[in-house]
Amino acid sequence: MTDKLLKIIETDPIARRYLTDNYSGGEQRSATIGRYSTLIRLFQTEFGEKPRIALRAPGRVNLLGGHTDYNGCPVIPIAIDRDIVGALSGRDDAQIVLVNTEPRFSKRMFSVEPEIPPYPTGDWGNYVKAAIQGLVTHFRQSEQELRKGFNMAVSGSVPPAAGMASSSALVVLAAIAFLTVNEREMDRLQLARLLAQAEWYVGTQGGGMDQAISLLGQSGHALKIEFNPYSTLPVAMPKGYRAIVTHSLVFAPKTESAMDKYNRRPIECRLAVALIRQHLSQQLHRSVDVRLIGDLKPELLGMPDDEIYRICLDALPDNRYSYASISNTLNESIEQIQKKYCLKKDGTVFDEPLDGFKLRSRFTHIFTEWKRVLKAVDILKRGEMLIFGELMNEAQVSCRENYEISVPEIDQLVQISLKNGAMGARLTGAGFGGCVVNLVPQENAETFKENMGKYYYQDFARHLLPEGSHWRNFVLDCKSVDGAGEVLFSKYI
Ligand code: GLA
Repeated sequence: MTDKLLKIIETDPIARRYLTDNYSGGEQRSATIGRYSTLIRLFQTEFGEKPRIALRAPGRVNLLGGHTDYNGCPVIPIAIDRDIVGALSGRDDAQIVLVNTEPRFSKRMFSVEPEIPPYPTGDWGNYVKAAIQGLVTHFRQSEQELRKGFNMAVSGSVPPAAGMASSSALVVLAAIAFLTVNEREMDRLQLARLLAQAEWYVGTQGGGMDQAISLLGQSGHALKIEFNPYSTLPVAMPKGYRAIVTHSLVFAPKTESAMDKYNRRPIECRLAVALIRQHLSQQLHRSVDVRLIGDLKPELLGMPDDEIYRICLDALPDNRYSYASISNTLNESIEQIQKKYCLKKDGTVFDEPLDGFKLRSRFTHIFTEWKRVLKAVDILKRGEMLIFGELMNEAQVSCRENYEISVPEIDQLVQISLKNGAMGARLTGAGFGGCVVNLVPQENAETFKENMGKYYYQDFARHLLPEGSHWRNFVLDCKSVDGAGEVLFSKYI
């Protein structure tokens, strides 16, 4: 199979172009061809026929805008050349059957129904169910049934639990697979929005960045994504710089240990907004319609950013709030507050953290990060990468101090990066472990990687390296690629 694919790629310019556009050259290219062959072989063994089509959905690296998305504030990620690929065929019934080239993700099978019950938390099949449930519900609203299921073999190269959106890539892949076999099309921005909400099915109250970049990424570009309302702006990545991702070796699975830590942040932001809304209404002597931090715009409030920032901080004089103190200030019962802002997916109330809800510092992070993203867009356009790097460094400090999503290993990794030639380094993704994204001049890229090996992986974090693995597998030199779509040469397979 590998030989057959190689022949296709050698002779077909479209296939060659596809590979060059979506993956780096050299080793990664041959690894990709091998991966595609394994995937197709698996499909044939499991389902006894050839797949009808292959689709891919990329992971992402976020450059700026950490945790801003669910607050209605923008982000600037790139879609990367690490993806989830699915080889599939439609079925005549409503079954969805999934197999994975990675044996620890065992076979899953479920039916398309109006209400699809989830697997236990953390199960890989839930990301597929999330997408299908989201689409089924959406189409039922206009009285359309999507009935056809599919058989799909899946292969992922986005490292899991690393903050690179492997889960959303799977959600996106499942969604485009389901739409394809049911012969439906949807506007990509609308689909991104739908899937952001659909992914709450797994229990994490995330925003819309990961699905949007996986669907709408553009090769050679970062994408500024706005969520309030949704819009995108591709910004060319200046030549001569690399986005190199280094894994801290602290694994942060979003649906397991990190879920409560993650969900605490959107809850704290919603509580902060409730206090801000009340304070602003009092100050402006009118009721203000602020539902999200991203509604705190000069054009809506009629005052400049620095004044908005000051008034909002006045609304949050303390940094440790309890349900009781919030209820006192808002003059609403604790139960009302919990019901409005603090429910988990299963309907239970989020426990008050032992160190209190840290509303002031959470707000500080989101507001300043929002403004960093806005500045960064112009800076990128002008190619002022030193300043872009500084913004990344400021963002990292704020993630550590205000949003408290860094961990000591990430802090150390960032320090080592900056000493070894990164112009900017910050954690990317949800945090609580995972990866750092480093902005590195092209000419220093190789030395940078070697030094990360020497000072982080073979020294500071030696004890964290999983047995039998090489540190180089945790350093990803990323290329920005197009969003999800068909594997262009899949018709020959
Ligand atoms: C996760 C979520 C995103 C976003 C990031 C943090 O990846 O899925 O929506 O909130 O964390 O920026």
